[in-house]
Amino acid sequence: MHIGILGGMMDPVHIGHMNAARAALRAGMDTVLIAPCQSPAHRAAPAATAEDRVAMCRLATAEEKQIEVSTVDLREGPCYTADTIRILQAQYPAADLWWIIGADKLSTLPRWRDKEYLFTHCGFLVCPRTFSDTSVKVPGARIRVLDAEAMTASSGQVVAALHAYDDAADLLPHDVSRYIALHGLYQPDYMPDLIRFKLSESRIRHTLGVRETAVELADRFGARMQAAAVAAILHDIAKALPLSEMQDVAKRWDLALPEDILESGDLLHGPAGAAIAGHELGIRDPEILSAIACHTVGKPGMSKLEKILFIADAIEPNRRPYPGLEDLRRLVQTDLDAAVLASMRRTREYVLSKGGSFCTITEAAMRELAAQKEENA
Ligand SMILES: [Fe+2]
Ligand SMILES: [Fe+2]
Repeated sequence: MHIGILGGMMDPVHIGHMNAARAALRAGMDTVLIAPCQSPAHRAAPAATAEDRVAMCRLATAEEKQIEVSTVDLREGPCYTADTIRILQAQYPAADLWWIIGADKLSTLPRWRDKEYLFTHCGFLVCPRTFSDTSVKVPGARIRVLDAEAMTASSGQVVAALHAYDDAADLLPHDVSRYIALHGLYQPDYMPDLIRFKLSESRIRHTLGVRETAVELADRFGARMQAAAVAAILHDIAKALPLSEMQDVAKRWDLALPEDILESGDLLHGPAGAAIAGHELGIRDPEILSAIACHTVGKPGMSKLEKILFIADAIEPNRRPYPGLEDLRRLVQTDLDAAVLASMRRTREYVLSKGGSFCTITEAAMRELAAQKEENA
């Protein structure tokens, strides 16, 4: 039995890791263990917790019969490869162990701790890396070079894409990307901001529910999951402000808004929240900002992401039951536009029944959605 071991931070696990593991299988390994490690003393701490990194590895390998996740390298204290090999030898006494390394690490092998033991008890599978020499000789070590494409993906590249609210579809397994969005990983922690803006516990619960639903809908309808997640977490940032403060925000940032929105906190917290997200919290993505801005009233020409946030707000799992809620939840499974239109119609009915007047922008959005529906019928 031949076992390959792929160690590293896995922060997060990406396509490069999966390609290396598959190349090791092609090279004759029966099993490859992906083993996320603790943060080594000389390196920056990983951005994601060990629990999240393991969860992402499990998602990445869920469909892979011969690739497993091992937590052997998540033990406390110093984590030298030789010690890991000792533990694995005890776990798999009959196995021939092979440690998978990038070609850039090859020349460092003679300096690895306890190298005599290590070189006797494990071989090394070398993954080509751009600009790294795979022909370096290491006396005493059993070395095989894998037939894998040079590993070009890096966690740094992945994190840079995520910071730009991109799902990094060509660098990350899809379920890993979804997990990252659902848990708000590799983005700033906005919880202190939600607390600073005095969102109540139940409002925060609602916000987390909106994020869950928005990511699911973005996944289903092909919008950016990371963008949906950030728009959702910040959508009600201005909700707890008094109306006068929302109006101050609107004035400070010159928001051109009709009177009916400016006079209602229920409507104005959308545009005010977008102004806060943009000017105070550093969100630069125009689609995220406009989704936050129009989550209260909608607008004609809504983008997919805007529609997703609008309907996620109305149907998230923590919403108290209201007439028509289950119909909306059912409708959105298949038809995003129909669900947005139905939700707007329901709100109009409610507002008119209370003797209020209905927002003119929402009326315009409804006319457009109804016309499109007719055209497509
Ligand atoms: Fe809201
Ligand atoms: Fe909300």
